[in-house]
Parts: sequence; C-alpha cells; structure tokens
Amino acid sequence: MTRGRRKGIKKIGILTGGGDAPGINAVIRAAVKVAVRHYRLKVIGIEQGFGGLIENRTRKLGLKEVRGILPRGGTILGTTNRDNPFHYPVRQADGTIEFQDVSQRVLENLHRNGIEALIIIGGDGSLKIASQLWERYSVPVVGVPKTIDNDLSATDQTFGFDTALSTATEAIDKLHTTAESHYRIMVLEVMGRYAGWIALQAGLAGGADVILIPEIPFDINKVCDKIRERSAEGKQFSIVVVAEGAKPIGGEMVVKKVVQDSFEQIRLGGIGNVVGEQIEKLTGIETRVTVLGHLQRGGSPTPFDRILGSRLGAAAVNLLMEGRFGEMVCLRTPHIASVPLAEAVGEMRRVPLGSDMVRMARQIGISFGN
Ligand code: F6P
Repeated sequence: MTRGRRKGIKKIGILTGGGDAPGINAVIRAAVKVAVRHYRLKVIGIEQGFGGLIENRTRKLGLKEVRGILPRGGTILGTTNRDNPFHYPVRQADGTIEFQDVSQRVLENLHRNGIEALIIIGGDGSLKIASQLWERYSVPVVGVPKTIDNDLSATDQTFGFDTALSTATEAIDKLHTTAESHYRIMVLEVMGRYAGWIALQAGLAGGADVILIPEIPFDINKVCDKIRERSAEGKQFSIVVVAEGAKPIGGEMVVKKVVQDSFEQIRLGGIGNVVGEQIEKLTGIETRVTVLGHLQRGGSPTPFDRILGSRLGAAAVNLLMEGRFGEMVCLRTPHIASVPLAEAVGEMRRVPLGSDMVRMARQIGISFGN
C-alpha cells in the first residue's frame, strides 16, 4: 500500500470531514505544532470538509491559529458530511442537480495551494474518500479516525467517543433523579448509528435497567417484563437507554430522514419515542422520552479525548514525514500504530455479543430486551 517516502515535503494540508466530534481541535493543534515546530513545515487548513477542497476554501494554519483550541469542541476548520468529490451535486442549467465526479478539482486545488500531503480527519465516509484519493491518484494522505460512534474496526477507540459517553452518562444520572421522584419510566435515545457502543457503555455507567442496541434486536414484551419485575420488587421507576439504531426482532430501524447528497444518506432517529409509547401502553406506567441528539457531539472534550486526539495528530504528521501514505493512525493500546486506509474502512466495529461487557450487564440484571 505504502508507495515510499516523498522526500522534502514542505507544505501539508489538514481537512476535517463528516460529523464533528469533541477532540478534533486537539488533533489539529498537535498536528500543526509538530509540523511547524519539529519539521518546519507550512500548514494549510481546508475549510468545510471536502467542499473546501473542491471549491478552494483554505487558510494558513500556524502556531497562532491553534492557540487556545485544545479544550474547544467542534472543529475550527468547519466540516460537513456532504460534498464527496467522487459524487458531488452540480446544479444544471435547467435547475436540476446532477451528481458528478469532480475529483480532478481536488488535485488542481492541492496543486494551487502547494499542498504536498494531506491529513484527513474523519469517520468512515471521509476515510473512504481519503482511501480513494490515495488509490486512484496517489495523493499522499494519512487518515485520523474520528467519530463519537466508536464504530471503526481498525482502532481500539475513536476520539470523541469518550466525551459523548460522558455526556450520555450525565444525562442518565439526571434522568434517574427525576424518574425516581415521579415513579416514571425514562427512555433515553442516544446516537451511535449502527453500533451500540454509546448506549451500552452509557447504560452501564449510568446504571440503566434496560439497554437496547442494534446488535441485539429486542422484544418489547421482554422490556416490559423487566419493568414489571422491578415494580414487583418495589422499584417504581426504570431507566431505558435506546441506541438510535436499535430495532425490534424481525423489524427495522427507525429512519428519521434520508439526506441524498450525504456520504451516509440515512439519518436514524425516533426509536426512543416508539419504545416509550409501547412501554406506557403495555405497562400502564407513565413514560417520558428524551432524545439526547447532538448534545453528544458538542462541548469540551474529556481529558482522554484531548490526549488521544493529540497523540493521533502528532502521529499523523510523523507518518506523513516517514512517507507512509495511504494509512490511518490508530490506537492499539497502549501504543499509537497505523493500518492501511483500505483495511481501516472495510469493516464496521459493532458490539460483539460475546463481549464481557454484555455478559456482565446480563449478570447484574440489565435487560437487553431479548
Ligand atoms: O456519526 C456521528 C453521528 O452523530 C451519528 O451518531 C448520528 O447518527 C449522525 O452522526 C447524525 O448526523 P447529522 O449530524 O447529520 O444529523
């Protein structure tokens, strides 16, 4: 995969693509510091994801530009989960939209800005584009895995997940006190797409009674059995954490909307309300639903995400300077390692059913609704 060292790199670019995740700025900051201080490189920031590379929206990134950004959520460069250069919406004369391959414009703009190598910070959608740029055009790229969903198989953990997990756990803690006071069922819907990592771990950390994840289709009657069992034991409230990708046995995930020009067209959402209504109907116990939504993506990164982001950002520059293009930096605890991009985007990391976390959860009495 790696096609050798490209000697004398003087200028690199950094791009953030896909949904934001707390810790991106830590990656950018570390990458810029290592590039400027250690390798004496110039750094160009590409604004608004791949759209910025297609439309040539760039700016200089120096030490001054990254000062003070370590604790900041979001990305100082802006991002989008649209604008795939290999499938880009172009408005036609008659007003209709046609999807075209505009990847040549990416090459032109890299050349125009003198960018010799590129760090792409993204989830599987952005990293697939990074892989294509490398495979098709030998653009010297290095990927940095980012997503709150923690669903990239080639890394032990993505940065952003730990912060999302803290936010979701705090939400469960808050729901607990009001659930208990009002003798209610509280349903919390969390993000995570097709993987149940946020729901599982926040549910464990927050002491949920039921956790519904995409990997374990549920039976609503079993969910209600658990709630009734708790009532019979004198526990007049219950906490149900539902991953947005959870689905009933034999049923489908709930799709909130389809975004045509996005890398990932399906937006999940709504299962929390479905589950909440069914629980109230079947148990007769007052049930309230909270959808945590984008709160999970916002805010200041946890110390873990700041450090992981910094390690990955520094490693990405080191990898570029070693000429190891077409790779993605990753966490192989306790080390930072790298894998070929093609391998990194090949497989989604889902909760293994035999994992000790699932087993422990069952043993301490948590229901997965099955
Ligand atoms: O991949 C990150 C994520 O937050 C998912 O958990 C969620 O399904 C999706 O992005 C939401 O995307 P958007 O910000 O486009 O609504």
